Amino acid sequence: MSKTDNVKGYESKSINWYPGHMAKAKRMMQESIKLIDVVVEILDARIPLSSKNPDIDELAKGKYRVLLLNKSDMADDKKTAVWKKYYEDKGFFVSIVNSKTGAGVKSTTEVIQKACREKIERDRKKGILARPLRAMIAGIPNSGKSTFINSFAGKACTKTGNKPGVTIGKQWIRINKDVELLDTPGILWPKFEDPKTGLHIAFIGSINDDILYPEDMALELIKILVKDYPGVIKERYGVDVTAEIVPNVTNDSDAAGRDMTKETVTNVSSETAVKILEMIGQKRGCLKKGAEIDLEKASKLLIDDFRTQKLGRITLEMPE
Ligand code: G4P
Repeated sequence: MSKTDNVKGYESKSINWYPGHMAKAKRMMQESIKLIDVVVEILDARIPLSSKNPDIDELAKGKYRVLLLNKSDMADDKKTAVWKKYYEDKGFFVSIVNSKTGAGVKSTTEVIQKACREKIERDRKKGILARPLRAMIAGIPNSGKSTFINSFAGKACTKTGNKPGVTIGKQWIRINKDVELLDTPGILWPKFEDPKTGLHIAFIGSINDDILYPEDMALELIKILVKDYPGVIKERYGVDVTAEIVPNVTNDSDAAGRDMTKETVTNVSSETAVKILEMIGQKRGCLKKGAEIDLEKASKLLIDDFRTQKLGRITLEMPE
């Protein structure tokens, strides 16, 4: 099996690892969802598609929905704005946040109120006294649920304890007079039937790296960088990507009259990506005995640079 284009034991490992956690998480969410008005799903703004679990649409049927594009400080602002509009067009209430600094976090109350305005209005008409809206935070591992809850709740929060008629053991955090949060977030396991999704969620540390080959992750990252952030590889590693791609282009159009220049840049081949990875390894001295390039080491270096933001603010996905 080629180590550069296959996900490591991908199917067998994911099958072993997925259902146990998933079943338990789903059960917990099903139980909690009955108690709340609105589900606030946290996405990683660098992968707004792969970090969204489609199961939640089924689980949260009949509930109001808010999406938070979290870790916006690590993502590409322009692309985050495109994603916000994309999900708003689908009917979600969307907010851009940075849970680490707290930017955009407090205004989540307003977004929750907007999402629930129908209910607020209905209650008001019935003369029901406004009670805080009840929200549950949900998201895949590492999307920033705990960080968001801590930032949203702040120091002033009070745990309201069990409520009459509410399953024993459920704790609510009073955020302010308008919103209460269930203190345990709903953990959704990412869905990764598509290997690309698996690679993308691995980039954000949502699944254990051991499930994948670092080379596969690095090649996927290189393909995205060459296509969307062509200057980054040159700037960081001194590797001129265009020089690698241009030799593939024999002329401006092929026999069928297609524009080959464009096709090559938007669809970087694995061979080209491997070549670029080798050049990065060479530049960074990732070598094995006998001066052979250590692709695994070069891959880990690239992934680490992405995770620690040394490549800048990068969004890996765009709406189709
Ligand atoms: P989870 O509950 O969904 O599993 O995620 P958690 O809050 O534990 O966050 C996962 C990692 O993401 C943490 O980093 C956290 O600090 C970071 N994080 C969360 N929100 C943001 C954000 O908006 N921007 C940035 N830059 N980072 C964010 P960690 O390295 O695992 O922990 P720590 O070293 O920060 O303590």
